Amino acid sequence: MEPHRPPAATLHTHPSLALVKYWGKSARGHNRPLTPSLAMNINRLTTSICVWRCASADEERVMCDGEETPRALFRRNYRPFLAHCRARFRRPRDFWRVQIDNDYPLAAGLASSSAIYAGIALAINAALGGQEKQGAVSAIARYGSASAARAVFGGVACLPARAHRAYCYAPPHHWPELRLIVARCAAGQKPISSREAMRHSKSTSPLFAEWRRRAPRWYREARIAMRARDLERLGGAMQQSYLTMFATMHTACPPIFYWEPQSIAIIKEAQRLRKSGVAVWETMDAGPQVKLLTLAAEVPGVLRALHSHLPPNHCIVSELGGGWYAAE
Ligand code: DP6
Repeated sequence: MEPHRPPAATLHTHPSLALVKYWGKSARGHNRPLTPSLAMNINRLTTSICVWRCASADEERVMCDGEETPRALFRRNYRPFLAHCRARFRRPRDFWRVQIDNDYPLAAGLASSSAIYAGIALAINAALGGQEKQGAVSAIARYGSASAARAVFGGVACLPARAHRAYCYAPPHHWPELRLIVARCAAGQKPISSREAMRHSKSTSPLFAEWRRRAPRWYREARIAMRARDLERLGGAMQQSYLTMFATMHTACPPIFYWEPQSIAIIKEAQRLRKSGVAVWETMDAGPQVKLLTLAAEVPGVLRALHSHLPPNHCIVSELGGGWYAAE
C-alpha cells in the first residue's frame, strides 16, 4: 500500500479465543464487558499489521487482506478507533495508514477483531517508541473491540466484568500440553457481527438476565481449573458458558442462529469422544466454527474423528500463543 516508504512499525498478533465468554456490554464506560471472560492466545492464527504515518485524518486508510476497507466500515469502526488512539497516546497530530493481513478468514467467528484492534494499538505504540505499557495498550485496544483488550497478552488473559483493561492470567508456558483445535465448519463471513448479536440478545432475550447472573461462576471455575491445569473442570465451565451464551441468541426476538449442520456434527462428535474417555471439550463464538480444547496426547485421535466430517486442512491445531511479536 505504501511501497515507497518502510512502515513505522510492523508486528504480528494472534486472536484471543474465549473459553469463558464476554457477551453483553456494561452501561458504564465505552465498550466495557458486562460479563467476565478468560481466553487463550491462539498461536496458529496470525494477523500482521503495518502502520505508516500520514498527513491528515482525510488521508487515513485501512487496507485489509489486499483491499481497502469499504468507506462505511472505515467510518463506523476504524476512523473512531484511530481518533481514540490519537487521544489516548496524547499525539493529536499523528495520523495513520494501516495494513492488515490475516492468514485465516476474517469475520468468520475466529476472533479476528481481537487480533486486529490489539495489533493496531500495539503497532502505533511501537511506532511511538513503546511509550505505553501493555496494560494501557490493552485499554486502548478495548475501545475497538473488548476481546482485543485480551489479545494484547500471550498465554491466558482475563478481562473482568466492567474492566477497562485485560491482564495476563497465565504465561504461554503455563500448560505446554494444552491444545485448541479450530474446526472450520463453514466458509464465508457471518451474517451478523458479534457486537450486533450481543446487543440484540441483551435487549430481547428473556434468558439474558440468567446468563449475566451465572457467568461469574463459570469464570471463577475456569480460573481455578486453568491454574490447576484441570481440563475436565475447565471444559465443564467452558461448555456451560458457550451454550448459555447461545441460548440468549436462540431465544432473542427474532432469534440468531450461527450454527450450521457441520457445527452440530462436530459438537456431537466431541460428545461421543468424551463418552469413550477422550478429554475434549468444545466451544463456539459468534460464527459456525467449533473449537475443541484437548491435550497433545489426544490430538491424533481427535483429528481422526474430525476428518470423517471435515477435510484435514479445515482443522488447525494451536497451542497457547506467546502474544504479539515484532516483524524480523
Ligand atoms: C463471542 O469483542 O468481537 O467472541 O467488543 O463489540 O467488538 P465488540 O465484540 P467482540 O465480541 C466477542 C464475543 C465472543 C466472546 C469473547 O471473545 O469473549
